[in-house]
Amino acid sequence: MEKLCCIVLAAGVGKRMGGDLPKAITRTREKALIDHLLDAVAPLKPEKTIVVTGHKQEILKQHLAESLSARAHSIDYAFQEQQRGTGDAVRAAIPALGSFKGTILITYADHPLFTAETLRHFIEYHFFKKSTLTMISFQAPPPNGYGKVIRDAKGQILRITEAKDCNPEESLTTEVNSGFYAVDSAFLKPAVEGLTNNNAQGEYYLTDIVEKAAKEGQTVAAFPLSNADEAAGVNNLQDLALINSILAQRQMELLIENGVNFIDSKSCFIDPEVTIGKHVIIGPNVQLKGKTSLGDGVTIHGTAIIEDTTIAAGSVIKLGCHIEKSSIGKETSVGPFAHIRPDSHLGDNVRVGNFVETKNTTMHNGSKANHLTYLGDCTVGRETNIGAGTITCNYDGYTKSKTTIGKDVFIGSNSALVAPVTIGDGALVAAGSVITRDVPADALGVGRARQDIKEGYAKKRREVLEK
Ligand code: UD1
Ligand code: CA
Repeated sequence: MEKLCCIVLAAGVGKRMGGDLPKAITRTREKALIDHLLDAVAPLKPEKTIVVTGHKQEILKQHLAESLSARAHSIDYAFQEQQRGTGDAVRAAIPALGSFKGTILITYADHPLFTAETLRHFIEYHFFKKSTLTMISFQAPPPNGYGKVIRDAKGQILRITEAKDCNPEESLTTEVNSGFYAVDSAFLKPAVEGLTNNNAQGEYYLTDIVEKAAKEGQTVAAFPLSNADEAAGVNNLQDLALINSILAQRQMELLIENGVNFIDSKSCFIDPEVTIGKHVIIGPNVQLKGKTSLGDGVTIHGTAIIEDTTIAAGSVIKLGCHIEKSSIGKETSVGPFAHIRPDSHLGDNVRVGNFVETKNTTMHNGSKANHLTYLGDCTVGRETNIGAGTITCNYDGYTKSKTTIGKDVFIGSNSALVAPVTIGDGALVAAGSVITRDVPADALGVGRARQDIKEGYAKKRREVLEK
């Protein structure tokens, strides 16, 4: 590919975004606006990327110093003292181009939706057309605030007229300017030097270079954008909301393409950093948040919130679970209606059933807690069964204590394990026990009143009461 440099206009203030920070660092659901743009440009491997800063430039530079280290491109900066228009902003970038000769890609930091693929096609189109200047244009029904692409009867581009400068006929033009251009450096440098601000906004319009090129008889072309969504810019919070929904939609489409089966994708919210394997089924009303990752063949029945959690292959999350900052092994089943709180680690083939809560608890492979249980600050060994209604009493009102349960243990239903306490491997705890002392391996721990039988008592009672 021929030589390329990129200029990113980023001097704007985010006033209508509700702050006075540089607009370019406004975050979408994924990252800062300018990071979207830089990530789309990076695959083109420009020799230089020049970011034109303005208001509070230190904050923008600080942001890029942090985010670029992760992205490994290097940036040159130019400073535009006052916001006097897009033409003035490009003029501010010219010195940073140095002796560069080739194509200059001009972009806006507040346009986050152009994909790397579209920008590549655009640059290829520019080279193919051997143009001096190519812009990205798209169709937008009037009225709108975009600059209009004005052509002559033969379809040759004459100029761009800004919305505020259009006559009534020009206002009806449906082909509009996206603001992204590829321009030959030899033309651009003198063209921006010669700009004037004789227009409705008193600004130095970059768009005026189009008319200059056309008048000089240079080749001017427009690359028609097939998906106008990509040209969306961010001027206010309404725009940002729209951008976020388009980004979410793109992510959803990619996940489906990669083999995720959403029963009702519209009711699901998937955070950008979530990763999902193949042959995964996700039911309605599921939120996957933070750095959650689902292995191949995981099934989530529906109505679940899963945050910062890893779920390994083949596991099933049944209806109504909330899972936070935890890990779940292979072929494990959770729910319905389970609450897996932070630092819970469920191994492979574990069963956690309805109305079970775990917190800071490890359940080793093959262990089960199928009904109505609280396991807090607890370790459960392999193949151990926790009976219905078991509670680890891990808090005495002052401190939290640990419960350690060995492997192949059977905890009878409705037991209270008063921590700190250890139940040895292979031990048995009788149903209804309150266990306050350690139970050795292979022992039976019983902690309840012995049952008494009074023969004939019930019958006698009936006879007295029903007389
Ligand atoms: C510009 C185009 C218009 C096009 C539209 C597409 C001009 C004159 N008009 O209009 O034809 O349809 O984009 O969205 O170029 N900026 C600076 N310094 C400045 C002015 C702007 O860095 O002095 C930056 C802004 O931060 C923004 C970008 O340039 O990122 C575009 O500026 P903006 O004022 O939003 O351009 P529009 O008036 O929308
Ligand atoms: Ca403007």
